[in-house]
Amino acid sequence: MLVHVLGSGAGGGFPQWNCNCVNCKGVREGTVNALPRTQSSIAISANGDDWILFNASPDIKKQLDDFSAIQPARHVRDTAISAIVITDAQIDHATGMLTLREHNKPWEVYTTKAVHDDLTTGFPVFSILGHFRGINHHEIATDESSFTIPTAPGLVFTAVPLKSEAPPYSPHRHNTVPGDNIGMNIHDTKTGKTLFYAPGLGVAEPHVLDYMSKADCVLVDGTVWTDDEMANEGISDKRAQEMGHLDQSSKGGIMDILKSMAKPRKFLIHINNTNPILNEDSPQRKQLEAAGIEVSFDGMDLEL
Ligand code: MLT
Ligand code: MN
Ligand code: ZN
Repeated sequence: MLVHVLGSGAGGGFPQWNCNCVNCKGVREGTVNALPRTQSSIAISANGDDWILFNASPDIKKQLDDFSAIQPARHVRDTAISAIVITDAQIDHATGMLTLREHNKPWEVYTTKAVHDDLTTGFPVFSILGHFRGINHHEIATDESSFTIPTAPGLVFTAVPLKSEAPPYSPHRHNTVPGDNIGMNIHDTKTGKTLFYAPGLGVAEPHVLDYMSKADCVLVDGTVWTDDEMANEGISDKRAQEMGHLDQSSKGGIMDILKSMAKPRKFLIHINNTNPILNEDSPQRKQLEAAGIEVSFDGMDLEL
């Protein structure tokens, strides 16, 4: 399986349009050693021709422009995106669907029922697309049963229900139901390799740790270094935990969890612009690297 990181940033991207935190100001002015990042999305392919888009970010136009394999130009209007999976109904994961409205047939879209509900009511992206070519919705079960996607031959997908938060416009914002957030376990039956992808992870439940520790590669929530990081920058009074993200540096945080796992290659994704690990010269980034954890970046390719 081929994996391409389209966007490694969290909501807002990096730098964020209105932000003058140390990182955003520094990367804008070229005084901080950090890579700019677009918002959270990856693409997966079994054959190099057909790509499954995981999450459709507001930055999708730039992301597709920068990835030639997904623009094969076989016809006057063309794309290599054959299906779209959306792991939660947040703005950074769903807004790109509106940019994709010019598709010449309905999109094959895979989401849980909870995400479909939010994306037809509170943030009715799917309803709006109904005025264009629409979507063929495939409901993802939340009982950890596996499914396949016809254009991803040999790949077996398993949705893993996660504890995080639902979007502000969801009726279950802080009272989540299974399916508001999923991680995805993707097993390639040809190579025998497995990827686990979870850009939003609030609680490290045992079943999630089990999938992660058995995977060959994990791409997991890298939003914040500390739970109160946004408050410390004077940006928000919200703790990361209230937004459904487990921090990296606390006891039992993402770094501790990943350190304890011997098998997978470990990457962070969905990194918020306030996170000090964005600065490649920071002590926090060095600490992460010493723990064997890598930071994914826009345009990163993996083969599993
Ligand atoms: C999140 O991951 O918590 C959300 O995407 C935040 C946002 O972009 O509004
Ligand atoms: Mn997000
Ligand atoms: Zn910032």
